[in-house]
Amino acid sequence: MPKIIVANWKMYLSREESLRLFSSLAKFDMDTKAVKLVVAPSVLWLEGISKLVYATPLALCGQDVSSRQIGAFTGGISCKQLAEIGCTYCIVGHSERRAFMHEVGTEISDKIRALLGFNITPIVCIGEDVISKKSGQALEVISMQLEELGSDIEWGKVIVAYEPVWAIGSGMTPSKEEITNVVTFIKEKVQPMAVLYGGSVSGQNILDIKHGVDGFLIGFASTKFEELKFIINNGE
Ligand code: PGA
Repeated sequence: MPKIIVANWKMYLSREESLRLFSSLAKFDMDTKAVKLVVAPSVLWLEGISKLVYATPLALCGQDVSSRQIGAFTGGISCKQLAEIGCTYCIVGHSERRAFMHEVGTEISDKIRALLGFNITPIVCIGEDVISKKSGQALEVISMQLEELGSDIEWGKVIVAYEPVWAIGSGMTPSKEEITNVVTFIKEKVQPMAVLYGGSVSGQNILDIKHGVDGFLIGFASTKFEELKFIINNGE
């Protein structure tokens, strides 16, 4: 299976910057790489990019989705709407949404089920915070986060992104042994389609952490073409 690299552009880029970056990535010769590049722009720019994505090997990804199908949910984006514009992946349960939007396991598992109903691959984020890390309870927290999603998730159709909260945007990463340990734990517990690592992945650390994972979920470094190109070239 090719490595999966998800470029999570969060709320970083303007319309013009997003289109320019996407066009540069689309021109970059990915055919020889054992990499599947998945791009998650702001929801506002998804439609513009969806008109370009068909002619490329890249895939489109939502940064979030509503757990509801249709109705009076102001500001909501449904799975059907994402599917209509060609999204084939969607991030759910990102720690920023858990922290700022108070998302919890039941809502996240509803989103996973809703996405699977539209053949959109969920990328579910889990990971310990700094307190759990320091008290040596990372695996307990990860285990609990997986369990609270419920026992009826079709894990074989789901990608898990291991993203320690303390590593996101901090410039710090776990050691490669720690990452491999958690990835193995997740694979043994739920057998997902793939397990990615996310949290301060950059051109500087990709060579150290690339082994033992099925790919990466990359935030800030994925907004810079040269750095992302370096990661793609060296992360496979
Ligand atoms: P980062 O973000 O690469 O900027 O640390 C990763 C993420 O939050 O998905």
